[in-house]
Formats: sequence, structure tokens, C-alpha cells
Amino acid sequence: MAKIIKKLNVAPAIYELIIEAPLVAHKCQPGQFVIVRTDEHSERIPLTIADFDIDNGHITLIVQTVGNTTGHLCEIFDVGDDILDIVGPLGHPSVMKKFGTVAVIGGGIGVAPVFPIARAYHEIGNKVISIIGARSKDLIIWQKKMAAISDVMFITTDDGSAGRKGFVTDPLRKILEAGEKIDLVLAIGPVIMMKNVAAVTAPFNVPTTASLNTIMVDGTGMCGGCRVMVGGENKFACVDGPEFDAHKVDFQNLVMRQQMYRHQEAMEYSCGGNCKCVEE
Ligand code: NAD
Ligand code: FES
Repeated sequence: MAKIIKKLNVAPAIYELIIEAPLVAHKCQPGQFVIVRTDEHSERIPLTIADFDIDNGHITLIVQTVGNTTGHLCEIFDVGDDILDIVGPLGHPSVMKKFGTVAVIGGGIGVAPVFPIARAYHEIGNKVISIIGARSKDLIIWQKKMAAISDVMFITTDDGSAGRKGFVTDPLRKILEAGEKIDLVLAIGPVIMMKNVAAVTAPFNVPTTASLNTIMVDGTGMCGGCRVMVGGENKFACVDGPEFDAHKVDFQNLVMRQQMYRHQEAMEYSCGGNCKCVEE
């Protein structure tokens, strides 16, 4: 059991949950994730750890209401309620070293899992260029937290209601075209965004990492639910990832697999089928 000790509505249908999970918090490293089961009838969902507090034994998850389990976490659970189980930390931590200049790209709620990785890059002396984007101003999350650990930050919105109008890939392309040397790009967000970030950085030969939030069941490499094609090989996001070389990921195959169980979701996706999360 893991108790919810704080719940904040950070944007429409997006909640920040601070959860008592000392065993996870003590072992957690940036880039890792947990698998959450709300009750004995629930599916298991992977959620990237957005922050962790080793001293107090807390982890922070950012959850968007898109299906049954996320709906349960966001709309039914409240402060003081117990989540049945949280398994983790799972997956390989992000590689931490002094790369030089690192551009971190967070799309939508992808900003939250970018945060602890960007903070760690910053703490070990990398120059951190953050590019965070959302559909509109009200959907931008953790702007202040990101600004605090960034040397330079760009904000984009699809509708131009805050920052520059456009996608996160626009400032990234401009920076690279201007000749700034970037030693690593990390992208977390919708699959189409990560695919397009990889397409922008490939001609410049900039190493690019994508953190893949695939469908998962067991999180131990046994079920195959999280299978992704990387460099022509089958990989399991739960044990081989979640981070992969974005230039080698077969994003088309990933989109197809992400859509496999959509019709089985009891609730409508918050995007109403009109967002860009499954566009080619
Ligand atoms: P969204 O659809 O609102 O998009 C967020 C931003 O991504 C946009 O504002 C834009 O800047 C960029 N983007 C979207 N389409 C693009 C395109 N075609 N080209 C370039 N950039 C594009 O995002 P959302 O609704 O907040 O969804 C977030 C997604 O992030 C979900 O699909 C979720 O699964 C994923 N996610 C992944 C992780 C992870 O650990 N990998 C964690 C959290 C969320
Ligand atoms: Fe089952 Fe990865 S979640 S193999």
C-alpha cells in the first residue's frame, strides 16, 4: 500500500500526486519508472517518476486522465487514500555524465519525467537547454521548476497562447541551424514528437535519446507487452529501456502497438481522438 499525501491539479485533467513510497524513493535514480495498480481489479500502468525525495521517502507522479486507471488515480483517489501497489524503481536510470551541452525536450506531461533527468544533468555541470511545449498556456506544467535547473529555456505552444507559437521541434531546429553545438538531446513526450525530434537531430548527427512510455504489464521482461523495435532488434522497454537511441527506434511500429488496446479503454481519451499523439 502507498498513501497519497498530496494531490494538486496542475492543469486541466493533469494531477501531481506525492506518494509515500520510501523503498522506491531510496533506490530511485533519474529516468526510472514505476508500475502502479490502484486496486485488485486494475490494470498495471507504467508512470515515469517525476521527482523523488529520499529523506522523506516520497515520490512524485504526474498523471493525466486518459483511461480507467489514470481516471481512478486522478478523480477517485484523494489525499489519505492508499494505492494498492507501486512496483519500482524499474528500468535503467539515465546515463549521467558531463556531456557538455544537453537539450532536454518535454512535450505536454512529458515535461514532468524530463525534470529529474535535466536536474541531474545540471547538477553535474552540463549546460542545460530546455524546450518545453504544450498545446496551450493552461497545459504548460512545471515551468518554474524547469527554469530553475535550465541555463536557457524555450517555451512553445501549438496555439501561441504562451511562448513561441509552434512545436518544441521549432526552437530545436533553429538552435541546430544556427550552429550551436549540442552534445545530447533527450526527448520525452508524445510518440510523434519524439519521432520528429529524432528527424530534426539526425542530419546534424546529434546523439538523441527518447524515453518510451509503452504499454506494460509485468515490467520484468516476461510478457512482451512493451516490445519495441530498435535498430531492427526486438527490445523490451521495461528492462532494456525506457531510454533508447531515438535514431534507431521504429516509431511507426511503436504507434501501431500503442493503438492496439485503445478500443478496450472504457473511458474516452481526453484528446477525444483529435490530438496529435497518433499522427504519422
Ligand atoms: P500533446 O499532444 O499535448 O503534445 C505536447 C507537445 O508535443 C506539443 O505541444 C508539441 O510541442 C509537441 N508535439 C506534438 N505533436 C508534435 C509533432 N507532430 N511534431 C513535433 N512536436 C509535436 O501531449 P500530451 O497530451 O501532454 O501527451 C503527452 C504524451 O507524452 C502522452 O502521449 C504520453 O504517453 C507521453 N508521455 C511519455 C512519458 C515517458 O516517460 N516517455 C511520460 C509522460 C508522458
Ligand atoms: Fe512485460 Fe516489458 S512490460 S515485457
